[in-house]
Amino acid sequence: MTEIHKGLAGVVVDTTAISSVDPDSNSLLYRGYPVDQLAERCLFEEVAYLLWHGELPNADELAAFQGRGRSQRTLPEPVVEAVLALPTTCHPMDVVRTAVSVIGAHHPRADDPSPEANLAKSVQLLAQLPAVVAIDQRRRRGQEPIPARDDLPFAQNIFWMTFGEVPDAVVVKAFEVSLILYAEHSFNASTFTARVIASTLSDLHSAVTGAVGALKGPLHGGANEAVMATFAEIGSASRAASWLDEEMAAKRKVMGFGHRVYKHGDSRVPTMRRWLEQLVAHYDRQDLLNLYVALEDAMTARTGILPNLDYPTGPAYHLMGFDTPTFTPLFAAARVVGWTAHVMEQLASNSLIRPLSRYDGPARRDVPARDGTA
Ligand code: SDX
Repeated sequence: MTEIHKGLAGVVVDTTAISSVDPDSNSLLYRGYPVDQLAERCLFEEVAYLLWHGELPNADELAAFQGRGRSQRTLPEPVVEAVLALPTTCHPMDVVRTAVSVIGAHHPRADDPSPEANLAKSVQLLAQLPAVVAIDQRRRRGQEPIPARDDLPFAQNIFWMTFGEVPDAVVVKAFEVSLILYAEHSFNASTFTARVIASTLSDLHSAVTGAVGALKGPLHGGANEAVMATFAEIGSASRAASWLDEEMAAKRKVMGFGHRVYKHGDSRVPTMRRWLEQLVAHYDRQDLLNLYVALEDAMTARTGILPNLDYPTGPAYHLMGFDTPTFTPLFAAARVVGWTAHVMEQLASNSLIRPLSRYDGPARRDVPARDGTA
């Protein structure tokens, strides 16, 4: 009898040239480049170009790529209206999901599956999702939107649209690092969702909309905001161990820890942890780092389960001033590069994704005869 692999754990379903997640060497490569080197040495726009085109851009290619993205940062009015029409009680990921759908509905080549059209749609989504995230955080605070600026690099423009100012270089760099680390991670749940939708030859915006829905879940992208809720619940480093004992006793999962692929620690954590420490020093918040370390030490001692990228990124986004519900939308604004790269790769050598299941319901039986029927 064929073995069942629940959750597709450990199952290799296809090849990809976009990234390599290697739990044995505890490494992550984007098109062959170690992600920690990319995070320290590159702009997020360079990494986006790399993931889509397979090579890092030269100076002219980068300038053209930046110009193409910056010229599309302003959200079309119908998208702004759609975002503002949504209740502020819905989750910000619902706003991102809706905005992707409306952007797609207005795209003149929405159903054009050509690589050139899909790249154009991808560039537009990368350019416009930050405005969706910024407008949504501001409207929930009762603030008017701030127009995008085309004279600022990608990361700085997000701060400008969200807060009306650009923070110190160390804050911008920490944010840029988080975007690079979040950009891509092979066949994670949201990316695989995008590939499943693309495999039916549906359109790119439908694939990204599905991916947004998958990323929202707390077992996946939603964990970064859940980490801050955990910190708020614990309060201080001295309470971390006792809090964890209660969670373990209740068999509740601790957000920001564990990973389906990495079993000796998420390869991205050391880099993001270093930049979290820079932010802690910049904002003089040693108390937050003490809590971070206390919970990690307690979790490791009790379970051996190590942090994933969401663990350092949650407090980092908190220190940057983003509201907690904005954290996963920021993850989506970066991961849209990986999702769309995988959609284009899936289409380049497509096979409909349709796994099997083993039936364990009732045996065959007949519907009881009705009066007048045989
Ligand atoms: C992301 O796939 C990707 O690449 C995702 C991602 C990306 O970049 O796209 O890396 C981003 O989603 C990171 C993960 C963020 N999610 C969380 O932080 C939520 C908390 N983590 C867990 O839910 C869990 O670790 C998963 C879902 C991430 C992974 O789960 P697995 O591999 O399916 O492992 P499991 O749930 O089967 O756990 C094995 C054991 C279980 O104990 P038993 O039931 O066998 O006794 O370990 C325990 C689990 O209960 N466990 C945890 C735990 N993670 C695993 N116990 C407490 N807290 C946790 N966080």
